[in-house]
Amino acid sequence: MTDEIIVKTKNLRRTFEFGETEVVALDKIDMEIRRGEFAVVLGPSGSGKTTLLNMIGGIDKPTKGKVEVDGKEITAYDKDKLNEYRRNDVGWIFQFFNIVASLRAWENVGLALEFKGGYKTPEIKKLSYEILKHVGLKGKEERFPSQLSGGEQQRVAIARALIKKPKIIVADEPTGNLDFVTGQKIAELMRNLNKEEKTTFIVVSHDLNITQYADRVFHLQMGKIEKIEEHPGTMVSNKVEG
Ligand SMILES: Nc1ncnc2c1ncn2[C@@H]1O[C@H](COP(=O)(O)OP(=O)(O)OP(=O)(O)O)[C@@H](O)[C@H]1O
Ligand SMILES: [Mg+2]
Repeated sequence: MTDEIIVKTKNLRRTFEFGETEVVALDKIDMEIRRGEFAVVLGPSGSGKTTLLNMIGGIDKPTKGKVEVDGKEITAYDKDKLNEYRRNDVGWIFQFFNIVASLRAWENVGLALEFKGGYKTPEIKKLSYEILKHVGLKGKEERFPSQLSGGEQQRVAIARALIKKPKIIVADEPTGNLDFVTGQKIAELMRNLNKEEKTTFIVVSHDLNITQYADRVFHLQMGKIEKIEEHPGTMVSNKVEG
């Protein structure tokens, strides 16, 4: 891993108006994410984790400060450029999977390419099948979400985030809706994919368990980064499937 920086936040602040009061969700966030790293942002409920991911993922804009991704200031983008950034450069993984109930596993994965544009259906199907195999879902490509377990649904979501080869993958409590063992497997899968594909992962969670897979852990407390821990990230098995 090089120490090249892929995501940089500068003096980031986000406040929300709430009646007469102002809620400070994030303040003075200076963060540098290295290309290819598995970064975990750990913090309790309400510490600003989702707010931070929304800034980095281009879903929301800061009140103050800026976000640079791959040397470009995304916080200065207009609506069109921001849409393009979200479509092409960012893969999202959510706590409740956010996959479409009426679509088969491979179709859910293929959606990412449909949004990106320029792909024909047979190609989408082929690429989706390939990536589903990669996340351990060979033979389950034609199933609907209701015919998959929670852990399997999250694998579909991970495949959907990966298939467009984004610059970064951002994950908001990706194991939050899973039992301990399944959560562990999902964390391991993400970590292995991060190593294999060299995709940068930014994972936010309040789950201490996920930090064992991290290259670095950013501790978020009441909207501020309190400390940054370097981890060896040695808890990696060589297995992706299972
Ligand atoms: N749209 C909003 N309007 C007002 N306050 C908000 C809004 N969004 C977030 N907040 C506040 O900002 C703070 C940070 O919220 P955020 O959702 O980022 O926390 P979190 O760390 O993701 O929490 P959780 O672990 O519960 O998901 C909280 O105090 C929250 O109430
Ligand atoms: Mg949150």
